[in-house]
Amino acid sequence: MTFSSIIRSTGSYLPQRVMKNAELEKIVETSDEWIFERTGIRERRIASEDEKTSDMAINAARAALERGGIKPQEIDGIIVATTTPDRTFPSVAVSVQKALDIPVGTAFDLQAVCSGFVYALSVADNFIKAGQLKRILVIGAEKMSAILDWTDRTTCVLFGDGAGAVVLEASLEKGRGILSTHLYADGRYKDILYTDGGPSTTGKSGHIVMLGREVFRQAVSRMAEVVEEALAENSMTAAEIDWLVPHQANIRIIEATAKKLNLPMEKVIVTVDRHGNTSAASIPLAFDEAMRTGRIKPGQTVLFEAMGGGLTWASALARL
Ligand code: ACO
Repeated sequence: MTFSSIIRSTGSYLPQRVMKNAELEKIVETSDEWIFERTGIRERRIASEDEKTSDMAINAARAALERGGIKPQEIDGIIVATTTPDRTFPSVAVSVQKALDIPVGTAFDLQAVCSGFVYALSVADNFIKAGQLKRILVIGAEKMSAILDWTDRTTCVLFGDGAGAVVLEASLEKGRGILSTHLYADGRYKDILYTDGGPSTTGKSGHIVMLGREVFRQAVSRMAEVVEEALAENSMTAAEIDWLVPHQANIRIIEATAKKLNLPMEKVIVTVDRHGNTSAASIPLAFDEAMRTGRIKPGQTVLFEAMGGGLTWASALARL
C-alpha cells in the first residue's frame, strides 16, 4: 500500500505582546524607516518572560486539532521544529504530548533553525509514506527573543516569537498531499549565522550572531534553486503554483525569490511585516493565517521554502 500525506488541518499561536519598531528605537540606535526599508518588518510578537516555547507549541497544536476535529488519541507522532527549546532536554515534543493527553507514540524535536519546519514536514511525510505513522503533529515553535542580544541592532530588530502547527495524515488518495520535499545543508557556512554558546561549550544557550549581508546573498540564490528544483521534479511551471509560502526573514529576499520565479507578489503569503522572523515557526504561522482567512483554498497547490542557519535550506510542494 502506498500512502500519501495530506495536510488535514492547521493552527497557530502568537504571544499577546506586540513590539513595534518604534519601541526598538528606545533600546538600540535604529529607526522604523531603516528596519522597514531593509526588512519589511513593522512589528513582531514577544513572549512574556514566563511563556515557554512549549506553551506556544501547545496552543498552536491544540488549535490545529480543534480545527481538524481530531482527537488527541488519533495522533501517533509529534515533531517539533525548534531552536529555542524550554530545556536542553527533554524535547518540547514530549511537553506537547503530555499537555494534550496524546498517547504513547513517537515524539521528538528537530533542529534545522529557520528551515526546521520544512525539514520536519519532510521527516513526517517519510514516516507516513513508509507506513510507520498515521497522523503526525508537525509544529514549528520559537522563542527567538530569548536568544537575542538586545544590544546588537544588527540582529535584535529582526526576530519574533510564535508557533504554528499542521496535522499530516496518511491517505490513499492519489495526487494530493505532500508531492515532494528537498532538504539541504552546507556546513561550510556554519559560521555566518550561529549562537555564541551552547550546552557543550559555554553551558548557556548564547545569543544570535549573523553576518547579515552574506546570509542575504546565500538566501536569494538557495531559495530560488530549491524552488526551481521542486517545480522540475513535479514537471510543473511556476504558473501552476497557486501560492508560495516562504520563510519570513526579509521582504527583499521574498521578493527576489518571487521575481526569479516570475511569480506575482499576489501569489506570495507575507507576514514578515507583522511577525518578523520567527525562525521555524514562520512558515506554519503564515500558512495557518492564509488558511484561516480563506486565501489558500482546498485543492490548491502550495510551495513552501526556507533557508536558515547551517546553512540549511529546503522546499516542500503540496496539493491541499
Ligand atoms: N538600524 C540601523 N542601522 C543598522 C541596523 C539597524 N537595526 N543594523 C545594521 N545597521 C547598519 C549597519 O551597521 C551598516 O552600517 P555601515 O554601512 O555604517 O557599516 C548599514 O546599516 C548596512 O548594514 P548591512 O548589514 O549591509 O544591511 P543590509 O542591507 O544587508 O540589511 C539585513 C541587513 C536586514 C540583516 C539583511 O542583510 C538580511 O536580511 N540578511 C538575511 C537575514 C536572513 O535571511 N536570515 C535568515 C535566516 S535567520 C536564521 O536562520 C536564524
